[in-house]
Amino acid sequence: MCGIVGYVGPRDCSDVLVSALTRLEYRGYDSAGIAVFENGKIEVAKTKGRLSDLSEKMEKEGKPKGHAGIGHTRWATHGQPSYVNSHPHSGKRVTIVHNGIIENYIELKEYLTKKGKTFLSDTDTEVVAQLLDLKYDGDPLDTIHTVIRMLKGSFALGIVFADYPDTVFAVRRESPLIVGVGDNESFIASDVPAILNYTKKYYLMNHDEIVKLTHDGVEFFDSHMLPITKELQEADWDMDAAEKGGYPHFMIKEIHEQPEAIKRTVLPRIRDNMPDLSECGITLENIKDFKNIHIVACGTAMHAGMVGKYVIEGLARVPVNVDIASEFRYRNPLVGEGDLVIIISQSGETADSKAAMSLAKEYGAKTLAIVNAKGSSIAREADMLIYTHAGPEIAVASTKAYMVQIAVMYLFAFQLALAKGRITEDECKSLLTSLMEVPDKVEETLEKVMDDCQYAGSSLVNADSLLYIGRGLDYALSMEGSLKLKEISYIHSESYAAGELKHGTISLITEEMPVIAVATQNALFEKTLSNVKEVRSRGAYVILVCDEECHIGSDVADQIIRVPKIREELMPMLAIVPLQLIAYYTSLHRGNDIDKPRNLAKSVTVE
Ligand code: AGP
Repeated sequence: MCGIVGYVGPRDCSDVLVSALTRLEYRGYDSAGIAVFENGKIEVAKTKGRLSDLSEKMEKEGKPKGHAGIGHTRWATHGQPSYVNSHPHSGKRVTIVHNGIIENYIELKEYLTKKGKTFLSDTDTEVVAQLLDLKYDGDPLDTIHTVIRMLKGSFALGIVFADYPDTVFAVRRESPLIVGVGDNESFIASDVPAILNYTKKYYLMNHDEIVKLTHDGVEFFDSHMLPITKELQEADWDMDAAEKGGYPHFMIKEIHEQPEAIKRTVLPRIRDNMPDLSECGITLENIKDFKNIHIVACGTAMHAGMVGKYVIEGLARVPVNVDIASEFRYRNPLVGEGDLVIIISQSGETADSKAAMSLAKEYGAKTLAIVNAKGSSIAREADMLIYTHAGPEIAVASTKAYMVQIAVMYLFAFQLALAKGRITEDECKSLLTSLMEVPDKVEETLEKVMDDCQYAGSSLVNADSLLYIGRGLDYALSMEGSLKLKEISYIHSESYAAGELKHGTISLITEEMPVIAVATQNALFEKTLSNVKEVRSRGAYVILVCDEECHIGSDVADQIIRVPKIREELMPMLAIVPLQLIAYYTSLHRGNDIDKPRNLAKSVTVE
């Protein structure tokens, strides 16, 4: 949570910091602030609220003018959103911005209080600022080195010392941090999109490394303070990918980007009409012996894992256990040598997923990461790695990242089924041929269901609560549909395996409880239809999502949304589209802030 940035260069620093922070607002948006060297002095501007509030404030009161500084956009963890809790935080000679959580801040605060330090805020960050101040010996590197050894937890820190004008220091442990370099200018940021307006070139920081930015360039130091050189990375995203490009919201833009994202993710992994994951470290030989698979992730990524479970078990006949990362890491899981643990994560920085991966390694399992963010912690630490190529996903509600996570689940399932001898090469080729048809079919789905979903959104706008039901893959999909609706429309919803309704939940059904039923699987279609009848006869307004070829009367449901047909294992990739759009339009009709829903942040880097 939280986004940090820093800049040293010839441009107007306040403008650069605000523009860079705009690209990180998905990480948190309850307060914002910057600190800039103006005529050699650190000037701070900050406020509760969004970056737009900060810009307004600086327009009225004046902005700090200079060429070096740091900035922050916050998702509150310690202390409520308020002016005093906003970053930057300062000691007498040091000012900092921070992303992460200092776990031992209470004992450090006691220690600092005994040393005579006083605190203005409730934050763990101010403790670090005061600690840096206390330990400051005139040498910033030495001071940072001393202080980080006293900290427990996660941090990416941007630091400026009053004695070192136009110089920015930064250091990270667990929380993400990159260092961008352009012509005579340099940047720090929590994520790549922040710098794309200025440069595509950046360095990745490792744990406890320190970077120093000056007008002469950047210098890196390892955890022993020895100078080091690092490998320059180049972002393959351009600015358009991080802009709305004419769409009113990132979410709807990202929904429309799904066909391209699937192509980018799938096509490079197909050779001679067969799946080829060798560049990801996966061969038929090294996966054929796995006896158990655990898929561990959070939220939407976990739902992609649910689809993976049905597909892998169905095709490769290997048992798959899907776990919520925050549960897995604390329940002493039955994982060991010979098992494969798959971690799915868009950001590659989710704290629980990261911890789950470390635990899996500790237990002797092999790990495979399916990650979107290049160079992220999970990507760097896994034994095998498949990048999803969704491009930057800015809307907090994940759509295209989910789509490509599912695409990878299919690729992996095909490869594993082949390795286990469960499908022939011809069957594999035929599955892949269908997978390659998906991008066009998603395009077609978007055209076909848009109006229906707007209509569905308007009929759900006043609902207090609703149910999603489905069986098999449709149940896995319903979970994601329900989460999407909850997170951006703020309407309570739950997903149920349709056959489970009559064991209790059906008592909730009244005219006030709409039901969205997903029925795309032939063998289960009639069964789900019976459940639709059961809820309709008890008054529920039903929206049914099925394929365009299914033979049903128009009176089976109150609204029927038909998606194109593809072989049924792949139907989730089409049926998810109306579920995403229903959530989007319901939220739009309710006037919510779709891309930045309340209380949420895109990247959950704290427990
Ligand atoms: C999805 O819409 C959510 N914002 C959330 O559930 C997300 O998928 C989850 O926090 C996991 O994030 P990750 O993929 O970056 O690990």
